[in-house]
Amino acid sequence: MLALQNIKVVYGGAIEAVRDVSLTVPSGQIVALLGSNGAGKSTVLKAISAILDAEDGEIAKGEIVFGGSAVTKSSADQMVRSGVVQVPEGRKLFPSLTVDENLTVGAHLQEKASAEETRAYVFSLFPCLAERRTQIAGYLSGGEQQMVAIGRALMSKPKLLALDEPSLGLAPKVVAEIFAAIQKLREERGLTILLVEQNASLALTVSHYAYIMENGRVVLDGSSASLKKNPDVQQFYLGINADQGRMSMRDIKHYKRRKRWLS
Ligand SMILES: Nc1ncnc2c1ncn2[C@@H]1O[C@H](COP(=O)(O)OP(=O)(O)O)[C@@H](O)[C@H]1O
Ligand SMILES: [Mg+2]
Repeated sequence: MLALQNIKVVYGGAIEAVRDVSLTVPSGQIVALLGSNGAGKSTVLKAISAILDAEDGEIAKGEIVFGGSAVTKSSADQMVRSGVVQVPEGRKLFPSLTVDENLTVGAHLQEKASAEETRAYVFSLFPCLAERRTQIAGYLSGGEQQMVAIGRALMSKPKLLALDEPSLGLAPKVVAEIFAAIQKLREERGLTILLVEQNASLALTVSHYAYIMENGRVVLDGSSASLKKNPDVQQFYLGINADQGRMSMRDIKHYKRRKRWLS
């Protein structure tokens, strides 16, 4: 459904944030994009959603293909219309608007009847939002705000939903609820999902295939089941060490990690 071919992204004409990234998101699957802070994950999502302009970034090389057509030069609006919708990092809600109003903003391209059907679905997916529909979004908990952000994205009837670190800063119980909803979206609505996460363990559990990025490049990819069993992934991303049990990422010297991945 979506393919990136040798994508390079440059900010301010100088900073190479993403280098030679190729990835594929097949229709109806959940694909995870993993990696530590600064790896280039959000930049990949911004390239797909065509919102790099706002940060003086540009696709300097490569092609993006969606549904069989080259969309590398499409505008942000065209991408949303063609069905690619992103839930950005930090949720980016309208904090002074209510839950209902935030959802309505997401539906601006939809017919009223279709929007109301989707709104009902959002409330069935996240029942706690139904109780809070007239409340101001800025006063909701972090988890509820993430649910509103996902709901708002759903209101524009995406074919491909790109989620940027939906678990960030949330308690495990809320994260479990949100990941259950992500799986439901694929199963019940046939949505194709590109999931950016730092929580590798969880992301590898719900996804079919995963890519791991470091320093702007994809350093490893494979089926999520195979990556979960990979000793390097276990050590560096799942915090599991064969000799000592769980260990902290902070214990691992950066250079050693680079050497391992690139060797
Ligand atoms: N607007 C920007 N201007 C300049 N550099 C940026 C900008 N946004 C991100 N970067 C740089 O690009 C790299 C990748 O960032 P990002 O895509 O946000 O990584 P991630 O989402 O994996 O944490 C980082 O080195 C970051 O500092
Ligand atoms: Mg990011």
